[in-house]
Amino acid sequence: MKVVLLGATKGMGRALARLMAERGHDLFLLGRDPQELARSAADLEVRGGGGRTVGHAPCDLERPESFGEALDAADAVLGGFDTVVVTAGMFGTQERLESDAELARRLLTVNYVGTVTFCEEARVRLLDRGGGTLCVFSSVAGERARKPVVLYGSSKAGLSAYLEGLDHRYRAEGLRTVCVKPGFVRTGMTEGLDGPPLFFTGRPERVAARVLRAIERGTPVVYAPGVWAPTMAIIRALPRFVMRKVSF
Ligand SMILES: NC(=O)c1ccc[n+]([C@@H]2O[C@H](COP(=O)([O-])OP(=O)(O)OC[C@H]3O[C@@H](n4cnc5c(N)ncnc54)[C@H](OP(=O)(O)O)[C@@H]3O)[C@@H](O)[C@H]2O)c1
Repeated sequence: MKVVLLGATKGMGRALARLMAERGHDLFLLGRDPQELARSAADLEVRGGGGRTVGHAPCDLERPESFGEALDAADAVLGGFDTVVVTAGMFGTQERLESDAELARRLLTVNYVGTVTFCEEARVRLLDRGGGTLCVFSSVAGERARKPVVLYGSSKAGLSAYLEGLDHRYRAEGLRTVCVKPGFVRTGMTEGLDGPPLFFTGRPERVAARVLRAIERGTPVVYAPGVWAPTMAIIRALPRFVMRKVSF
């Protein structure tokens, strides 16, 4: 595969990029910090056995004007990409976002408007060459509105709906959309948060293996860890009055 990754300098994106490098895929990194990108690219080159150059270009989900140039650079270096992975995203606790309107605005912009706008640019390029795979990290938080994630969850709900729509609209034309819905995964994003019991908590490396399998198969929705699939089926079925009472 020839893969463009946005957000692969940290967390689950980094684990996925490492696995892809070890499997011999050609990679191109997009992100905000040029030094982090260069460091990650060098690390991936070593993990890939040293035979492949990993390119990189600046791309910020708060700066839509950076998207076209970044994807053009990836195209030029990879000789046409067939897979785009977006793990970039922001998180904030409900309390923090309620007390900081500017942070909340930025999070909603990055997780929904920025991500969807970026995906639209990637979609056009992929469809122009007959299709490919667009894999984007949403969240279980977008499945059912819950008290601790009202704002973050709403941004991911919009993103999940967009990805499902793309899948319905373009799969027959060769565009495979993979929507990843992590539950709780130990990364910098969740540092300091009280997680759920261990059974519901994932590690980035395990998530990466699961997501790579989903990309290879073109699975439209993947929960990680897998236990979140039946869990969310139950939570989706709970009546509204129950959701109003519970605090999870
Ligand atoms: N961890 C979890 O439990 C969990 C659960 C559900 C969903 N998710 C979702 O899964 C995805 C990956 O999460 P993670 O835990 O791996 O997060 P992470 O370790 O915090 O990594 C997030 C990545 O997003 C990038 N990013 C943030 N804002 C950006 C922007 N404006 N433009 C470009 N890149 C930006 C960061 O780049 P910088 O280095 O520039 O900051 C970083 O590389 C996210 O979309 C997250 O919402 C995570």
